[in-house]
Amino acid sequence: MKKDLFAHKSKSWDMSSRRVQNAQAIAETIVRNIPLHDKMHLLDLGAGTGLLSFFLAQKVGRITALDNSPSMLEMFHEKRGEFQCDTDHIEADFLQHDFDTRYDGVVSSMTIHHIEDIPALFQKLHAILKPGGFIALADLEKEDGTFHSDNTGVFHYGFDTEALVALAKEAGFEDVTVHHASTIEKPHRDFGVFLLTGRKA
Ligand SMILES: C[S@@+](CC[C@H](N)C(=O)[O-])C[C@H]1O[C@@H](n2cnc3c(N)ncnc32)[C@H](O)[C@@H]1O
Repeated sequence: MKKDLFAHKSKSWDMSSRRVQNAQAIAETIVRNIPLHDKMHLLDLGAGTGLLSFFLAQKVGRITALDNSPSMLEMFHEKRGEFQCDTDHIEADFLQHDFDTRYDGVVSSMTIHHIEDIPALFQKLHAILKPGGFIALADLEKEDGTFHSDNTGVFHYGFDTEALVALAKEAGFEDVTVHHASTIEKPHRDFGVFLLTGRKA
């Protein structure tokens, strides 16, 4: 079995106000740019403890949290009563999982830098969406490798957003747009966070 890289962080994850504020800013950017409604079923890719899901729950009907960390999902499960929509969860590596559902949208916060094969990521996202479904993926703009104190499991030091847009289009996404979602202030420097949105025709 693969090591749970977040086991030592899961219990205190939600105690960081910086993380909570970042997730809220990402959710607000999603709400400003994508029409959500209460019949929608979203997948939260790398949902962790559910910070992003929490801020979107009041806008949609169901959120499925997918994560490959059992400890992060345990926190999500413990909080399930706090979400204002139906929830369930899948413990799996996104690229390895065989989905039997098609989603209205896939949202994600601060996860895709943990996924090595980005072309495969976009192809899989496209495959698991209903026609007309959307992606809304937030992550770090290109950084110098100093965002994390330990880069174990980090495959990308942020992203060149133009290159990411090209990969999303190659996988078949339309209306691909990059929005500024938030800025994370750390003592040594600030880190920009983008939200990439796109639609499956
Ligand atoms: C930095 S945390 C972000 C958690 C949450 N989205 C948030 O904003 O608080 C990244 C999460 O992605 C999960 N993750 C990393 N690689 C993954 C993969 N290949 N498949 C599923 N989940 C993954 C990790 O277990 C972790 O919970």
